[in-house]
Amino acid sequence: MFAIRSPLDKVCTIEDLQVLARKRVPKMFYEYVDSGSWTEGTYQQNEQDFKKVFFRQRVGIDVSQRNTSSFMAQTKVTMPVALAPVGLTGMQYGDGEILAAQAAEAFGVPFTLSSLSICSIEDVAEQTEQPFWFQLYVFKDREFTQQLLKRAKLAGCKTLVVTLDLPVMGQRHKDVKNQLSAPPKVSISSLIQFLNHPRWCFNMMRSSHRTFGNIVGHARGVNSLSSLAKWTSEQLDATLTWKDLQWVRDEWDGFLILKGILDVEDLYQAASIGAQAVVISNHGGRQLDGAPTTISVLPEIISAANNQTDIYMDGGVRSGQDVLKAIALGAKGVFIGRAFIYGLGAAGGAGVTHALEIIHKEMLTTMALLGESKVSGIGLHNLRLP
Ligand code: FNR
Repeated sequence: MFAIRSPLDKVCTIEDLQVLARKRVPKMFYEYVDSGSWTEGTYQQNEQDFKKVFFRQRVGIDVSQRNTSSFMAQTKVTMPVALAPVGLTGMQYGDGEILAAQAAEAFGVPFTLSSLSICSIEDVAEQTEQPFWFQLYVFKDREFTQQLLKRAKLAGCKTLVVTLDLPVMGQRHKDVKNQLSAPPKVSISSLIQFLNHPRWCFNMMRSSHRTFGNIVGHARGVNSLSSLAKWTSEQLDATLTWKDLQWVRDEWDGFLILKGILDVEDLYQAASIGAQAVVISNHGGRQLDGAPTTISVLPEIISAANNQTDIYMDGGVRSGQDVLKAIALGAKGVFIGRAFIYGLGAAGGAGVTHALEIIHKEMLTTMALLGESKVSGIGLHNLRLP
């Protein structure tokens, strides 16, 4: 008898998922993910710098019982890994935000819904049981921003992630060359791309009623996708300051995480407005090209935080080993962006689950070889520091 094989059977790593996603997602949307701003230097270096951190192997320790569970934002998680907010997730695979949220929920890790998602806050809430996290951009239209907060609260969100590193949009040359837009502009070359991906087209048609659900029909004057493009380009707020963030803090009584911190001075500001946690992030190398890699600034920010603010990080995390390196350096958790998005593009919800399983298994094996049984036991003593 021949067993029916899933394309995921031979997928062993996040890189394997990436290869599959590259085949299955039309070029303009695949490259929207696999790209960074300008030279892509920071984007590529984020991943590379993890390779500069080495573990300390220990033997002769009973590691038969190992557990990756931990806490993020006061909630128990199967492993300290949250799904990062990713705009246009629903263009990788129809209903992408719902599928990723369901996969995260079943696995026991947090899912963060981007402000710029295809499925709305309400769509995701309707299709999940547990609270998910909501990511906010503080738009120029503060009344609308306030409405988003109300909708997130109403949907049961208890954790808010406010992203700060987008006062203006960094340029990714690939998006310009691909003439990226959502919905896609129909040209001969885009038509050829889509016709080569019948499965992707089928999924998109099935979910075509979902279109930037957080914004279309909610923001003033935005009732169509063409009005959306104009609205979004006008709404990034380059005037945003810590005073505005104090306003957000006052509006949100749940757990507050500020994302996009790379500098100790900004960590102090975040703590002073009452944020409980920050994400050390350079937006996955999509904003300030030439910014330092996140794993390289982690130690100085951990030391400055002095256990007063929870420190999370993201950027370049592609394995369970990367997660453990960040934890060993003092992070309370990591966010993954592309790692789960490649899974989604490769195989929908099953691909996201597969990405989480890969990371989880890699963590368990590595913990055994470090001589550690619990995440709370992991620290600097597990690393060989230069
Ligand atoms: C992002 N990121 C992001 N961040 C955010 O706060 N709101 C958003 O809407 C988006 N959108 C977005 C789209 C795409 C395609 C990517 C790849 C990233 C940044 C994201 O939350 C996270 O910081 C990075 O993805 C982390 O880097 P890795 O894990 O992708 O290397």
